[in-house]
Amino acid sequence: MIHGWRLVGVLSVLMGAMTVGFIAGHGWDAEGIRLAIRATARTSLVLFVMAFTASALADLLPSEATRWQRRNRRYLGVSFAVSHFIHLGVILALASVDQALFWKLTNISTIVLAGSAYLFIAAMAATSFDRTAAWLGPRKWRLLHLVGGWYIWISFAVAVGKRVPLDRFYWPMAALVLAAAIVRLLAMSRRNRRQAAIGAS
Ligand code: HEM
Repeated sequence: MIHGWRLVGVLSVLMGAMTVGFIAGHGWDAEGIRLAIRATARTSLVLFVMAFTASALADLLPSEATRWQRRNRRYLGVSFAVSHFIHLGVILALASVDQALFWKLTNISTIVLAGSAYLFIAAMAATSFDRTAAWLGPRKWRLLHLVGGWYIWISFAVAVGKRVPLDRFYWPMAALVLAAAIVRLLAMSRRNRRQAAIGAS
């Protein structure tokens, strides 16, 4: 199975080709760009959930697949960052091609709140290399990736949640977002119980 930086490379090429394919297939117009925005939001969601739940799933449901997921957590996270920066790129393309449509689809508060998620994504991606992680130190690294992870989770919860009343199609996406939080919280409470039991004995 593909793993490590090769996984990041393969996924980045596939997502780049998918984005160009959607836009070119639609005649390079604003509707094609919208398709690419939605497609990259979906690849981002899947990759984010895989990185966000990797350790928790390997704890709760140990198997070959979840161990692969945990081993590749860093690379899934970096692939998510690539996907989401493509999302940003196509959003900027839409803003330059059709400003009126861009402002119909978004607003200042989304730009500020969702835009802040990009600061976390950039910081988390930048500290996903051995050297930069060592420079930050394990305590600060854990804090950045904990707070950043949950901020990005909230961004997905808001982005998907506000679309749920518009179309049933968003229900499975909302279920995935919710399931990711439940898995993380279950693993956390199990770890706490285990530590309490060790402390008591
Ligand atoms: C400056 C920041 C951002 C802007 C301006 C923005 C803009 C947009 C726009 C305009 C769409 C709708 C496209 C359409 O309906 O044609 C969209 C879809 C979406 N965005 Fe973003 N976005 C931003 C950041 C984010 C972030 C940080 C997340 C999550 C972490 C996110 C998740 C989503 C999701 C889940 C969708 C729905 C995709 C679908 O329809 O399946 N976005 N975004």
